[in-house]
Amino acid sequence: MRYSKPNRKIVIAVDGFSSCGKSTFAKMVAARLGYIFIDTGAMYRAVTLYAIENGCVENGILNEERLVASLDDIRIDFRFNPDRGASDIYVNGQWVEGKIRTITVSNLVSSVSAIGQVRERLVAMQQEMGREKGVVMDGRDIGTVVFPNAELKIFMTADPEVRAERRYRELLAKGEEVSRQEIIENIRQRDHLDQSRAISPLRKADDAIVLDNGGMSLEEEMEWFDKVFDSLA
Ligand code: DC
Repeated sequence: MRYSKPNRKIVIAVDGFSSCGKSTFAKMVAARLGYIFIDTGAMYRAVTLYAIENGCVENGILNEERLVASLDDIRIDFRFNPDRGASDIYVNGQWVEGKIRTITVSNLVSSVSAIGQVRERLVAMQQEMGREKGVVMDGRDIGTVVFPNAELKIFMTADPEVRAERRYRELLAKGEEVSRQEIIENIRQRDHLDQSRAISPLRKADDAIVLDNGGMSLEEEMEWFDKVFDSLA
């Protein structure tokens, strides 16, 4: 077995800025440990997609009241997809994994994730999913709000230009037509909104370890993780 410590299953919280590669990192860590990986950003994106597709957005403006009134109608679940080695997200039984990462959803998701009632519901779901431990959960408030007692907290960051370039290539590869400029603006705006929102703003938990992966390869990130994990008591 690669790891001997800690013997018990733990909760690993991975928070940080948009497009830092949190999900890729968290997914690889989960695979290494045989843990469940949960992408909480996908949950906020799924609610945003529901809002767009169900009349809660008019002329690009979110109708908060309407969305909050619809929350009881939104059922989110994850189902493991062996091809991806991770779970796909479903809304009311519909596979939406392929629709939640468009620039349209990205431009609205900060408004949706700033709504208290939305956060309350999703946080409760996330706490339930991590109750048995053995999870790697990535998001913005995992180490501060969802699992303030997580045994390991990692806070990821990288220069906005580096992050924009990564996201740009990802979207190009998927065939989406976007400009670099549009992406860098979206990232800067989301950084600002995530950090300045009134409820659960993005911030590093006092006991989180910082990983600036700007100049790092995935192998180097995993080497970094191995050292951190091996040093856990
Ligand atoms: O990680 P991501 O870019 O897919 O997340 C999408 C948005 O959801 C992001 O702009 C902030 C929000 N989010 C949040 O507020 N809390 C989380 N735990 C995860 C994401």
